[in-house]
Order: sequence, then C-alpha cells, then structure tokens
Amino acid sequence: MLLWALQQPTVHKQNSLVLQNSQTLPFDACGHHLTILQSPSSMSTPGVTGAVMWDSGIVLAKFLEHSVDSQSLVLQGKRVVELGSGCGLVGCIAAILGADVILTDLPDRLRLLKKNLEVNFEGGNLRGSARASELTWGDELDNEFIEPLPDFILGSDVIYSEDAVNDLLDTLKQLSGSHTTIFLSGELRNDVVLECFLEAALKDFVVGHVDQTQWHPDYCSQRVAMFVLVKKSQEMLEVQRVQLL
Ligand SMILES: C[S@@+](CC[C@H](N)C(=O)[O-])C[C@H]1O[C@@H](n2cnc3c(N)ncnc32)[C@H](O)[C@@H]1O
Repeated sequence: MLLWALQQPTVHKQNSLVLQNSQTLPFDACGHHLTILQSPSSMSTPGVTGAVMWDSGIVLAKFLEHSVDSQSLVLQGKRVVELGSGCGLVGCIAAILGADVILTDLPDRLRLLKKNLEVNFEGGNLRGSARASELTWGDELDNEFIEPLPDFILGSDVIYSEDAVNDLLDTLKQLSGSHTTIFLSGELRNDVVLECFLEAALKDFVVGHVDQTQWHPDYCSQRVAMFVLVKKSQEMLEVQRVQLL
C-alpha cells in the first residue's frame, strides 16, 4: 500500500506520545490540564482494548485543537459522536472545544470512560458538553445518536480488526447525514485491516487522507494515519451504480 510505503511505520517507534504502563496520562490541551485514567492491567485480558491511550488518540485530539486554533474547523455548538472512545481523550477535547459530545463504547468499557469524564469535568470546565453512552457497532442505533444526526463522527484506533470492519462501517453509515464529517485516525500496524476498511468504505463514502502538514506540528507520528470521510450522496451512488453495469 502506498501510504504504508511512504510512511515506513515500522522504522519509527510505536507509542512515543503515550505512557501505557501508567495508571494516569497527564495531557495539556486548549489551556486545560487533563488527567486521563488508564487501566494497564486490563490489557492482558483477551479481547479488551481501549484501557490505555494509543498515539492515534493523541494525534487526533491535538489535530482538533490545532484545527480549531487555526480556524480551519469549528466545533462550537456542533454535535459530535465519538466511536470506540476507550479512555475518552478525543471526545473530552472536542467538548472542551465547544462541541456537544456523546462518547461511546462497548458496555464493559463505560466505567473507565465515565470515570474520566467525572475526574476531568467535575468543575464543569468545558465549553460544550460530554456524556458517555453505550454504542456497539453494527447494532441498530438509539434515537439519542441520530436525532439529529451528528455534525462530526470521531474515532481513534478503531480500525484494527478485520472482523469488525463491516459493523463499524454499518454504524458510520447509520450515523452519517449529508452534513456529517468523519475523522478517523489509526495506528499503521496492520495494512491488511486498513486496506480492507478503505476498500469497503469507498463503496459508500468519499475518503480523503489528512496529510501530516495539517496536524498539530508537535504531535505527528509516522505510525499514525488520518482519514476524513463523507457519505456519498444518492446522485453519486447512482452514477457509481450505472458505471458498474
Ligand atoms: C484500540 S481501542 C482505541 C480506544 C481509543 N479510541 C483510543 O484511541 O485510545 C478500540 C476501542 O474500540 C472499542 N470497540 C471495539 N469493538 C467495538 C464494537 N464492536 N463496538 C463498539 N466499540 C468497540 C473498544 O472497546 C476500544 O475502546
């Protein structure tokens, strides 16, 4: 894959922006000091992810801060759904930047997520709002997520399992309207999974690569890629269907 070849991820150190062995990850952004609680011991439990932060979460959080600072993105008053929030840093930053955010994850991941919202926002120090809610990819969505549809969908390191690709895309399709922009950041650790996701995503979404020149200059990593997706309109899907005949 071209991206893989260009970035040569394996030459670079993984997780250079995080502290995965620590119970807490201190993080400064948007003039706020956050303390992200982690659960390193859960990482040994088979099937459990999201108990500690990964570089792609830091990159996406800092990308949001940088984009708002440079006025290329407005989050104030926008409706945001974060998928696979894990510890919740990305959603927390979106809320500090003024968005009304629903941070989501699997049922057994919500305890740590809610704790992180409590610890960081008990003084109400955010311009928007943040709450945690259960959302399992592929399931039919509750009204709270789709009425109205979000302006932005965020996800960091959510493309890591080939088995989950279809369910993740199903949720992205259900959540996306014509005004919805999706930002996904991911670890370049498995090009097969990433290719499988991109190939399937291209059927329903226009997919762009967010170049590192647009990221926060101090928070770049050759092991991370970022994508922006917008759902194809009915007209585009019709043209695509005709071309395939
Ligand atoms: C690798 S972690 C990334 C966590 C966080 N976004 C970050 O960057 O640190 C993947 C996250 O996706 C969640 N996840 C995995 N499969 C899921 C599913 N089928 N439905 C909802 N969330 C899922 C996991 O529980 C976990 O929190």
